Amino acid sequence: MSDDIFPVSEALKQSSYADNQRYLSLYQQSIDDPDGFWGEQAKRLSWSKPFSKVRNARFTPGDISIKWFEDGELNACVNCVDRHAKATPDKVAIIWEGDDPTQDKKITYAELLEQVSRLANVMREQGVQKGDRVIIYMPMIPEAAYSMLACARIGAVHSVIFGGFSPNAIADRVIDSKAKMILTADVGHRGGNLIQLKQNVDKALERDGTDSVEKVLVLKEAGNDNPWSKGRDLCWQDELAKASAECAAEAMNAEDPLFILYTSGSTGTPKGVVHSTGGYLLYAALTHHYVFDYHEGDIYWCAADVGWITGHSYIVYGPLANGATTLIFEGVPTYPDVRRIGQVVDKHQVNILYTAPTAIRALMAKGDLPAQDSTRSSLRILGSVGEPINPEAWHWYHDKIGNKQCPIMDTWWQTETGGVMITPLPGATDLKPGSATRPFFGIQPALLDADGNTLEGAVDGNLVICQSWPGQMRTVWGDHERFEQTYFSTYKNYYFTGDGARRDDDGYFWITGRVDDVLNVSGHRLGTAEIESSLVAHPAVAEAAVVGYPHDIKGQGIYVYLLPTDGTEITEELTKQVRQWVKDDISPIAAPDLIQWTHGLPKTRSGKIMRRILRKIAANEYEQLGDTSTLADPSVVDALIDNRKNR
Ligand code: PRX
Repeated sequence: MSDDIFPVSEALKQSSYADNQRYLSLYQQSIDDPDGFWGEQAKRLSWSKPFSKVRNARFTPGDISIKWFEDGELNACVNCVDRHAKATPDKVAIIWEGDDPTQDKKITYAELLEQVSRLANVMREQGVQKGDRVIIYMPMIPEAAYSMLACARIGAVHSVIFGGFSPNAIADRVIDSKAKMILTADVGHRGGNLIQLKQNVDKALERDGTDSVEKVLVLKEAGNDNPWSKGRDLCWQDELAKASAECAAEAMNAEDPLFILYTSGSTGTPKGVVHSTGGYLLYAALTHHYVFDYHEGDIYWCAADVGWITGHSYIVYGPLANGATTLIFEGVPTYPDVRRIGQVVDKHQVNILYTAPTAIRALMAKGDLPAQDSTRSSLRILGSVGEPINPEAWHWYHDKIGNKQCPIMDTWWQTETGGVMITPLPGATDLKPGSATRPFFGIQPALLDADGNTLEGAVDGNLVICQSWPGQMRTVWGDHERFEQTYFSTYKNYYFTGDGARRDDDGYFWITGRVDDVLNVSGHRLGTAEIESSLVAHPAVAEAAVVGYPHDIKGQGIYVYLLPTDGTEITEELTKQVRQWVKDDISPIAAPDLIQWTHGLPKTRSGKIMRRILRKIAANEYEQLGDTSTLADPSVVDALIDNRKNR
């Protein structure tokens, strides 16, 4: 923990929506009278039918139920598009910056409405109805946002799959969600590389159990000749040209699902996190407004991918609900070179930049170069998300990207929370590098010990949330029991985050990372169980154990211990093959960084792998292995250490 304090600037105290006094009073109000607070805030959305009840949520064991604004009706697309297209049709809704720096375009709210309406009509004509699931597997282009909004318009539940996921991962999600349609493109561009999206979809749909998919709408980006499945595949451009530009929006109940987003947990396959229409949208909009102090005319850039929750809440739904101008960036911060972020900021006069520590660390490794050839003088506020930001990276981001002028909003939250939960506010919160600081309105965090006792004062503990908030996930798609089991069984009557945290004397929170078997690699969330099950499917692998270890750029790297099947000859070639296997099976983001073959894993006498020991060995911390006396064969530990030291 660093002792530095960066006080709020006088200018921001004056100009922002909330100074410290206002934060404290709004926060208190949100806790003392949640119904009054959220009922009032909900006025920032347009409701086609007003709600009479604000909150109906309980964390009661065996009976978890979360509902907000349950008898109200609204449409998320109308809120994000129509009302702004009516009020400010010529205002730019989306600035798109291509992977290729010479490519960009601007889309006004009026144009956005037209594109979304046409697409929504195409989907309806192809038989997609309210409640049907639609998979979106797109590059970072405006059409990705159109797709999400078009689904919302007709009440279809979208599930966006990150463009880096493999055919197998797509198939898993199709099977779990029983999706009726897939929206995709022939290719995507990223860092100068072509990604064959359509080919991946074709391969995914070869798998048994994927025949719920009736249609695949393909945006022809490159115009290349992919194999075409007649009767199933449709050309985006052709269909949209034929479709009407007017499309009536479906009236949705506030509790109708808006989307499913698959995310990794500590066990099993990725689960479908379900978010609601009313509560989610309100929470995304309100957090976007306060956390980034979004003012009319600001140019706002969240450099995430729409395949993740950050892209959902802070590229698409939050900013567009607020009528903002949101920048969609197709590329990566290091292409064509590490000056790109600064150049994009200058080119579009970006005022608010939201990115991830892993990107910051990758740039920081290049010293001053990323800040060359740009002034970044338009920036007012910076944001960070996805993993703990180490003070060194915080300072670099603050000094080099922000010219020491911009406060950093270190936002802690999760796919499950829908929006930011613990965060500074620009005009209210004195910053401490590495701390996510204080809870957002309506959020009551607490720290518990392993036995569930509430810890007071400056202390380390497991982070739970005491009461529901509107952006909270509602269930796991098709498996409400798993929802209860995962989030509400560790500590009764609390939502358990899976994170550990420390609270300091000022009541600031410092997130220390996951306390379960979830890895955070370059801000991407991966389950160790998921990677292990992919590994053991390889014929040369009898057993696998996956742990995280500290990695300078990625935050955490993936360390893999493998037990070979009998008679397998261990070669470098085989190790390479195994790495490639995981890439093909899940995604390149899941590729092991280090692979250690071994003839034994540390197990208890009852056969449980002691991951605590494997984590220590992977981190080169041999002195702190803890108690090894319960191991069935303690000698495997020495063998593992010898092997690790020789790497
Ligand atoms: O461990 C926390 C970490 O990312 C996890 C959630 O990952 P995901 O659902 O993929 O969502 C990422 C984007 C919201 C959390 O359980 N995490 C996220 N933000 C922070 C963080 N850890 C520390 N500081 C943060 N600001």
